[in-house]
Amino acid sequence: MFPTLAVFVGSLAIANAAAADSNSRRSCANIAAPRVEGAKVLSVSSAELRNHTVAAFPPLLNEPVAGINVCEVNVTLTHPGANDTVSVQVWLPLEKWTGRFLSLGGSAWAAGHGPLSIAPYAVQGFAAAATDAGLDGNFLDPSGWALKADGTINTDLLTNFASRSIHDLAVVGKAVTGSYYGKAPSFSYWQGCSTGGRQGMVAAQKYPNDFDGILAGAPAIYWTKYVIAELWPQVVMNEAGYYPSKCEFAAVRDDAVAACDELDGVKDGVISNLARCNYNPSRLLGQKINCDGTEVFFTPQLISIVQKIWEGPKTSSGSRLWHGLNIGAPLDTLAATNNGKGSPFFVATDWARDFVKANPGLNLDGLDSVGLRDLFAQSVEKFNAVIDSSDADLSGLQKSGGKLLVWHGEADNVIFPKDTIQYRKEVENKMGAAGRRIDDFFRLFIAPGVDHCAGGSIDGAGPTDPLGALIDWVEKKKAPQELAAATLPTAKSHFSRKLCPYPQVAKFDGHGDPSLASSFHCAKGFGNSCSKST
Ligand SMILES: *[C@@H]1O[C@H](CO)[C@@H](O)[C@H](O)[C@H]1NC(C)=O
Ligand SMILES: *[C@@H]1O[C@H](CO)[C@@H](O)[C@H](O)[C@H]1NC(C)=O
Ligand SMILES: *[C@@H]1O[C@H](CO)[C@@H](O)[C@H](O)[C@H]1NC(C)=O
Repeated sequence: MFPTLAVFVGSLAIANAAAADSNSRRSCANIAAPRVEGAKVLSVSSAELRNHTVAAFPPLLNEPVAGINVCEVNVTLTHPGANDTVSVQVWLPLEKWTGRFLSLGGSAWAAGHGPLSIAPYAVQGFAAAATDAGLDGNFLDPSGWALKADGTINTDLLTNFASRSIHDLAVVGKAVTGSYYGKAPSFSYWQGCSTGGRQGMVAAQKYPNDFDGILAGAPAIYWTKYVIAELWPQVVMNEAGYYPSKCEFAAVRDDAVAACDELDGVKDGVISNLARCNYNPSRLLGQKINCDGTEVFFTPQLISIVQKIWEGPKTSSGSRLWHGLNIGAPLDTLAATNNGKGSPFFVATDWARDFVKANPGLNLDGLDSVGLRDLFAQSVEKFNAVIDSSDADLSGLQKSGGKLLVWHGEADNVIFPKDTIQYRKEVENKMGAAGRRIDDFFRLFIAPGVDHCAGGSIDGAGPTDPLGALIDWVEKKKAPQELAAATLPTAKSHFSRKLCPYPQVAKFDGHGDPSLASSFHCAKGFGNSCSKST
């Protein structure tokens, strides 16, 4: 839920700058009010910011951004009958505009993060914009807007969060950009991770003419299903009557990583060949570890809890209800505990409480399988059409020529990577049948060993400049054959890698330095002949 993509933003070449930048008549004081279908613009205000600084605000913005010179434009609008006030903020570089417009998405319960998300891009020459969708901006808690005074769901605001604000943002942002520079942007982009990734997928599905390129990381798609499935690790612990510590969970994960690390032929502390990882934690039974000075034995209870978390929730007849975490993902986010009690992930609790049950007093202590299946069914029934964000029909995007680049950390601890792979397969089934080449407009890159939005808790290589790759795809027709990737400074060991378009994998050449991306190539699979390397 916490996009720290800024960490991974490489330096983008400032292209087309001179051509777009010659007009000295532009005036920040005279921005024309945009026209937005289905909405009424309430206000437009603008002011130049010179040598402005945005302070760091981790995890949303890890480094301060200084030396900002932009025309800041705020537009507010309302949807008649909706009793909402939506604020859109656009930053227009005073110099060296690249001709590009970029919308930035939000995370968790926020549709956008204003200057925290747009500042890093405005200083790279993008006209950059974000919206609050009319919500209160509290990305950690939707209870301020979820329910109306009469206790019913605020469907208007939920609709804004789910989809409507994405299109409004594109319309307002492009119009304001055009008004200031005297010409429309040459290219328009979307970037976001988690909720921001979901918003990008909604743009691809519903508003395929809004963006030339969409970058979606760890997209929160199948929202009505996966958010409830996030409660599964808590259910497993409740039903076992046992709440393992962080240390116990970490010990099992570390053992799994050690057991499966070299299945791709490279020992790097990362599971890359997950398909071949048949790790069974039973091998730990009877062994003990030292957890904060206390000796803890691996018990059948602990082993069974971890196995069930990996399997994911089941229907009453025992088939799969939804995906679970991948082996190698940190377990202690969704299976968090506090003083020997379960501590469910906030997005899942909020969703169940404020939306599915519309009951601010809902208590999820002791939630069991039956309760989870009930929440799941109601979530899907009530909200699938509003916010599932999983329509596999991308024919609009294909027609518009737009490009969709999706990436997902394979060790994501919050949103299941199998969801994104399922979506890709559904698109292939739906559109591939008609002879369409999906890779012409939609490419998926799985990043082994990377956690949620490359938040930094584990050790794989995340994409270093996926937006640059998307721009090359859109503007130079250079479809990404691979994405450059590298470990974060916080990782245990450091290496560069490449990410390959799904279902390809990055395979070690068998010679050369395994810490360098140049020693890997994209292949159909790892094969059986893994040459070992350390
Ligand atoms: C735009 O809105 C932000 C947030 O409310 C405010 O701090 C800023 O001063 C506004 N800028 C203009 C030009 O109205
Ligand atoms: C810009 O602001 C910084 C402080 O953030 C200051 O040190 C610097 O002198 C300023 N530059 C100009 C040209 O005003
Ligand atoms: C409109 O929204 C405000 C809060 O933003 C609320 O106080 C008011 O009761 C709402 N009006 C209606 C008719 O729902």
